[in-house]
Formats: sequence, structure tokens, C-alpha cells
Amino acid sequence: MKIKIINGPNLNKLHLRDKKLYSGYNIKQINEMISNEFKSIEFEFVQSNSEDEIISEIHSSAESYDGIIINPAAFSHTSIAIRDAIEICKIPVVEVHLSNLSARENFRHTMITASKSLGYISGFSQNGYLIAVYALLKIITEK
Ligand code: DQA
Repeated sequence: MKIKIINGPNLNKLHLRDKKLYSGYNIKQINEMISNEFKSIEFEFVQSNSEDEIISEIHSSAESYDGIIINPAAFSHTSIAIRDAIEICKIPVVEVHLSNLSARENFRHTMITASKSLGYISGFSQNGYLIAVYALLKIITEK
């Protein structure tokens, strides 16, 4: 089982962002937590601040991965291009947000990429990634 986890813009600076919203962990610690929890799964962790790179990562995943977990960060609310890449992706894509988007500013309620993901998890901080792996495992193994 191979899963690619893609984190979008500013998530490389997670530890500098509002702890109440974003856990206070850095992205390396979250990635280690995921690997430690699911030892039998092979993960590739990608973080990019570039829309272009995120699209290419989605495109290149279909041949060699079983699924994708993506936190597109601010691109979630703006990027039709990432949405379209998810739409044509042949493997399952689950979206994660650390914060509870429904409790935040109105502009974060526009979920452009999530409309093409299988579903999204929002508001469970770093544990959202664990929930997403579990959801993806169920989707892949029950196919
Ligand atoms: C986020 C929520 C987005 O609105 C924000 O721009 C982020 C992080 C989250 O994980 O809660 O950068 O995707």
C-alpha cells in the first residue's frame, strides 16, 4: 500500500501559525506521527508552496500510488486547476484541513478542491491526517 500525502502552501511553516487552529506541531512531526501509526503503509510526503508543483504531484501519482491525501491549504479556496487535477486523478483522493473551516471566515467556506475529492476531514487538527488514512484504507481495500 502506497499513499502520497501532499501539503500545500504555508504548511511548511505550520509551527509558526496560530496554535489554536493548527496544532503547534511542525509538518515533519505530523508526518512522523502518520508513519508511526501506520507502519505497514509506505508514505511519500510532499510539501509545496506552488500550485504548479501540486498539480504535477497529483498527475504523477496515479501509476505508482494507491491513494492521495491532500491538504491544499489556501489553494482549497481558489484553485480550479488543482480541482481539475483531482477530477482526472484515477486513484482516490481524500482532503484534510487541520482547522474547522465552517467555524472560520466566509472565504474559507468556498471549497473548490473538496468538490472533486471523495470527501474532506476538517477540524481534528493533526489527527485529521490519521482519520484520512483510515478512510482511504477502507476505500481502497473495500473496492
Ligand atoms: C487549512 C485551512 C486553509 O483555509 C488555510 O489557508 C490553510 C490551512 C487547514 O489545514 O486548516 O493554510 O487548509
